[in-house]
Amino acid sequence: MKSILDNRPALAKQVNDVAEVAGYLWQKGWAERNGGNITINITDLIDDEIKNMKPISDVIQIGRQLPNLKGRYFFCKGTNKRMRDLARWPMENGSVIRILDDCSSYVIIADNPVKPTSELASHLSMHNYLIGRGSTYKAAVHTHPIDLVAMTHNPAFLEKDVLTNLLWSMIPETRAFCPRGLGIIPYKMPSSFELADATIKELEEYDVVMWEKHGVCSVGEDVMEAFDMIDTLSKSAQIYLTAKSMGFEPTGTTQEQMKELKEAFNLPK
Ligand code: 13P
Ligand code: ZN
Repeated sequence: MKSILDNRPALAKQVNDVAEVAGYLWQKGWAERNGGNITINITDLIDDEIKNMKPISDVIQIGRQLPNLKGRYFFCKGTNKRMRDLARWPMENGSVIRILDDCSSYVIIADNPVKPTSELASHLSMHNYLIGRGSTYKAAVHTHPIDLVAMTHNPAFLEKDVLTNLLWSMIPETRAFCPRGLGIIPYKMPSSFELADATIKELEEYDVVMWEKHGVCSVGEDVMEAFDMIDTLSKSAQIYLTAKSMGFEPTGTTQEQMKELKEAFNLPK
């Protein structure tokens, strides 16, 4: 079957990276059933032939206007599709969409009419926000990491920056490679615009946000970077939980040691 990826190595690389990350999410046990979703802004890789491709779906409403997305293109995981299947067959479990000129609707253009993720409101709102602030970030990843989600069942961890500081203090890598920390969003209905709005509000300060008792959402230059930040935070959570299960409270690196890292790595916070 003909694919939009044929003879487009740069686009194929982006989609293959999504597939690779989808495989990691499954292997880590973060992607039960259809859990989690990934979208990437592929507009920079779109040529005239793609621009002229006919829709393979009806016009689908987003439900809100996202003015920065006019004429943009995204590869999106399909709703109800499994990460473990996206890993092996990305174009059967995801699709390329084109945002129409009204900025509030889209069509699917390739390869199959796979309806995008139910979290599209959040994903597109994040891309709209990122473009608006002049960011070069292209990827958004949402997943259900066991350790990080478990921590949100403790109200003390939901206070601003409590988890950020705890996770930063477990291993220097987390301080260095997730330098804006972890934002917390109180529980909201999955797929809702309320969740989308709360998410973009937190992106003003964080690259990774926690959806209480649900999952994590992260944005980055590319899908690998977005994944790596969640992976790093999860590693810290596991170190914390391992210490606790050995029967002691981990001491954590000191404020002084964290300050030293901030200076050495020229970190934003
Ligand atoms: P989708 O299958 O619609 O992407 O939903 C998965 C999910 O994690 C919802 O929050
Ligand atoms: Zn989810």
